[in-house]
Formats: sequence, C-alpha cells, structure tokens
Amino acid sequence: ETTLGAAAAQSGRYFGTAISASKLGESAYTTIANREFNMVTAENEMKIDATEPNRGQFNFTNADRVYNWAVQNGKQVRGHTLAWHSQQPGWMQSLSGSTLRQAMIDHINGVMAHYKGKIYAWDVVNEAYADSGGGRRDSNLQRTGNDWIEVAFRTARTADPAAKLCYNDYNIDNWTWEKTQGVYNMVRDFKSRGVPIDCVGLQAHFNSGSPYNSNFRTTISSFAALGVDVQITELDIQGASPTTYANVVNDCLAVARCTGITTWGVRDSDSWRSGDTPLLFDGSGNKKPAYTSVLNALNGG
Ligand code: G3I
Repeated sequence: ETTLGAAAAQSGRYFGTAISASKLGESAYTTIANREFNMVTAENEMKIDATEPNRGQFNFTNADRVYNWAVQNGKQVRGHTLAWHSQQPGWMQSLSGSTLRQAMIDHINGVMAHYKGKIYAWDVVNEAYADSGGGRRDSNLQRTGNDWIEVAFRTARTADPAAKLCYNDYNIDNWTWEKTQGVYNMVRDFKSRGVPIDCVGLQAHFNSGSPYNSNFRTTISSFAALGVDVQITELDIQGASPTTYANVVNDCLAVARCTGITTWGVRDSDSWRSGDTPLLFDGSGNKKPAYTSVLNALNGG
C-alpha cells in the first residue's frame, strides 16, 4: 500500500493524526491529512476549555469542524479529552470538592451526548499520574477524591456505550518507570473491579529526556494482557529517527490488541514542538525518511 492509513488497514489497524480546525482551510495541509490518515484526533478543539467555555454552555463549533471534516473524508475520530487537569476553562479551575466533581460529570455527559455513537474511542481521563513516584498527580480533580477517575469512566460508559473508553498519558511508554507501573496497577484494579475501561493511550512523545526504549513492546503487551486495547495516541519523536519510528510501528504490530497509531500533527511545522522536527512530513509537506520507514514497516517489512 502507498499511504499510511491503507498500509495500517492491512492488519486491521488505523493510522491517524491530530488535526487543528484552524488549518482546515489550508489545502497543502488537508491534502496530506486526507490522503495519508484514516483516524483523526482534534488537537485542542474537544478539550474542556473549548467545549464548555462557560459552565453548562457547550460550544462545539470548532470541535464539529474537525469532526465533520474527518467524517466527510471517511475517517474515524478519537475524542480528546473529557477530564484533565490542564486546559480547564477558568470557571472549572476555580471549583473544588463536590461542585467540581459534579461539573466533571456534567461535562462528560454534555460532550458525550453531542457525539453519542460517533466516536471510536474517548480519552476519558488524561494525564492523571504524577511524573515521578508512581502515584496520582495533584490537581483540583484529584482533590475531589481518589475515585474521580473511576467515576469519570462509569459516567462515560453510561453516556455513550458505543465508544471505547481510554486512559491516556505520557511517559508510560517505558516499562521500568514508576509512572508506567502506577497506571498499570490502576488498569489492573479497574479490570478486577469491573470499572469500565477499554483502552490505554500511550502518548509516545519521545525526546532525549524520555527516549524510546526497546521495552516499549513489553509495555504494550503487558497492558494488552490486562484485557484492554492499546493505542499509540500522540506519537512524535525528536529528530524523527527512521529507525525509532519503525521500532514503534513494529512494537504495535507485534501485539494484537495494539489497534492503531496516531502522530501528533501532520507536518513538522504543525507540531506543538516544531523545533524538534518530530513528524513524518517536513514543513513543505515532503515525506521525510521516517515516513518511508513507517510505511515500509506497516507494509510488513
Ligand atoms: O488558539 C489560541 C490563539 O487564539 C492564541 O492567540 C494563542 C496565544 O497563545 O494561543 C492559542 O491557543 C494555543 C493552542 O495550543 C492552539 O495553538 C494554546 O495557547 C496552547 O496552550 C495550545 O497548546 C496545546 C497544548 O496541548 C495545551 O496543553 C497544543 O497545541 C497541543 O498540541 C497540546 O497537546 C497535548 C495533548 O492535548 C495532551 N498530551 C500532550 C500534548 C502536547 O503537549
């Protein structure tokens, strides 16, 4: 196959990208995005600050721009994200306790109702674990009680039973890290107690501080063995080493329940860390060596 999406589909997987509504008028951008990818994540437009700028007043204008572009072009959509300590609107940042807990529940219900039956997988909870120590990150949500994550997942399951429900985080790629083990233990606990969780999103933002490690495959297979799908949700690699990109793809292909890969943007110039030139297309839209490496890996060799 000659595109990333078609090559991934040979094994029943998808290959996606993050999309920004603000770039959908740029044909150099949409041409590549439409040709190569068959899964879309809104880079910012489905986040809490975007979708509920005032409490109880939902705004899906930009989220729907991304959603409609994706569906009109035959792509599936990952929802990102419903409960997160970051990118909260000001009104939510100032809440605490049971009021915040209820606001979180109302937010999940409001957004999931709008997209009911239309989303492949939701990142229900994003980045809830601390960078070191293996425990929870302190946040206003965490201070509402340790059960906030499972409440979010139970709420989400009821709101849209058709969507896969994911926990998504960064720096949980390396199997030896405490953060990885912390999230692993949470998922194991959720599965043992029947808390509804279907997938784990490994963001996979690799750089010199948190580089790709060959134990990534162990991380993927270990999560999968708990009975959840694994998705690589925000892949980018500082410097875009073709070898590292191929390793990531081959690690996913090696695990049946690794269902797809999303890169966090189309061209280097679209990246949240464009100085790292971490993506598969350069700023002019040319395919980089990493692109060819990924395509070859998806094609089986
Ligand atoms: O849209 C406004 C614009 O109107 C304003 O003029 C400008 C001035 O700062 O800001 C623009 O918003 C920015 C937005 O990106 C769109 O470009 C925000 O300031 C900026 O904070 C925001 O950054 C996003 C970041 O999440 C916020 O946390 C990045 O684009 C986005 O790539 C990044 O994505 C996250 C994932 O959601 C979760 N995992 C990590 C990943 C990378 O940080």
